[in-house]
Amino acid sequence: MREITFAVIGSGFMGSLLSRAASELPYTRFVAASDLEVERAKRLATRYGGQAYGSYEEMLSNHRPDAVLIATPEFDHLAPSLCAANAGCHIFLEKPIATTLQDAVQIIEASNRAGIKLMLGHILRFEASYALIHSAIREGSIGKLLSMYARRITSINEAKRLNGRVTPLTYIGVHDIDQMLWYHPVPAKSVYARALYGRVSELLGTYDSAWVMIEFEDGALGIHEVGWCLPESWARWSKPSSWGGFGDVRMNVIGTHGNLSLDFTPMNLFGVGMEGWMLPDTRHWPLVHDRLAGAVKLEVEHFFSCISEDKQPLVRGEDGLRVLEIVLAAEKSIVDHSIVEIELFKA
Ligand SMILES: NC(=O)c1ccc[n+]([C@@H]2O[C@H](COP(=O)([O-])OP(=O)(O)OC[C@H]3O[C@@H](n4cnc5c(N)ncnc54)[C@H](O)[C@@H]3O)[C@@H](O)[C@H]2O)c1
Repeated sequence: MREITFAVIGSGFMGSLLSRAASELPYTRFVAASDLEVERAKRLATRYGGQAYGSYEEMLSNHRPDAVLIATPEFDHLAPSLCAANAGCHIFLEKPIATTLQDAVQIIEASNRAGIKLMLGHILRFEASYALIHSAIREGSIGKLLSMYARRITSINEAKRLNGRVTPLTYIGVHDIDQMLWYHPVPAKSVYARALYGRVSELLGTYDSAWVMIEFEDGALGIHEVGWCLPESWARWSKPSSWGGFGDVRMNVIGTHGNLSLDFTPMNLFGVGMEGWMLPDTRHWPLVHDRLAGAVKLEVEHFFSCISEDKQPLVRGEDGLRVLEIVLAAEKSIVDHSIVEIELFKA
């Protein structure tokens, strides 16, 4: 397989994970990382053997990598994506595609014009259990789909880390909404949402959690309960340091002839020690024998295999745009208590 060179824009939490997952593939070569805080880029460059930059423009023009992994904050996806597309690089862009529909459309149009692959980091598509629900629905095993309920509540530590830069729906709701649109590829008709305000709102200004109801054209419903209001102690232990915490996470799909149900709250491992109960992430990005495993590895592998085999990625720009329209409709509904009609992608 031919070698694929890649660079990273945004060397924070997710940029570091993606770089590691990509560097551990046998046919890729890390060439450079960039970050406004250049020390972060230097950490990756030192670890994976490339160069560090404060400016992604300079990095792309110096290295011309085959691919870029973009993990800048949610509101700053447009400029790096346009720059990468113009440089002819294939793009793996973290979710959400953008925070406005205009930015999302520009990103999709630029990547189409450049003829490059654009894949979004909708990681749940690469979680075995979520993907198995998808295949069961496709095979008709639960008959006609009637409703979907997804819960994703993380600890307040995640909200504190992001320091009010984004809302729970824009940050984590994207994942479950993408699943629902994937499970039920019927146009969404309207969205209604309400938010709850507690400690997160007092500390950081974003709501703590929200309930979102999506009505589809055929009458099916998607309900999403999303937030980051679990107490600090939910996912905080010092040992074992290799165990990362997660959240209270479910998916339940009901059809005329069956029911599919997933509970990731304890994934498949829990423990108790002097610091209390521990419910570690064993699926999204666990470290196994000092290598990243789980869905992050599979999604990054998929992205690079799409480049080498010239295939369309499983998660395309349009998928991100669809999800973003629902997220923005829900945020609007939270503010004005209205039922918001979905305009794009009507039947
Ligand atoms: N798929 C997932 O499960 C998942 C998990 C966490 C975050 N994310 C997404 O990943 C993206 C990054 O989130 P994060 O948690 O890693 O944030 P982060 O704050 O940890 O990292 C973002 C980094 O980007 C840098 N940056 C900002 N503007 C830049 C620019 N113009 N050029 C270069 N660097 C710039 C910041 O200095 C920071 O180091 C977001 O879109 C987020 O929603 C996805």
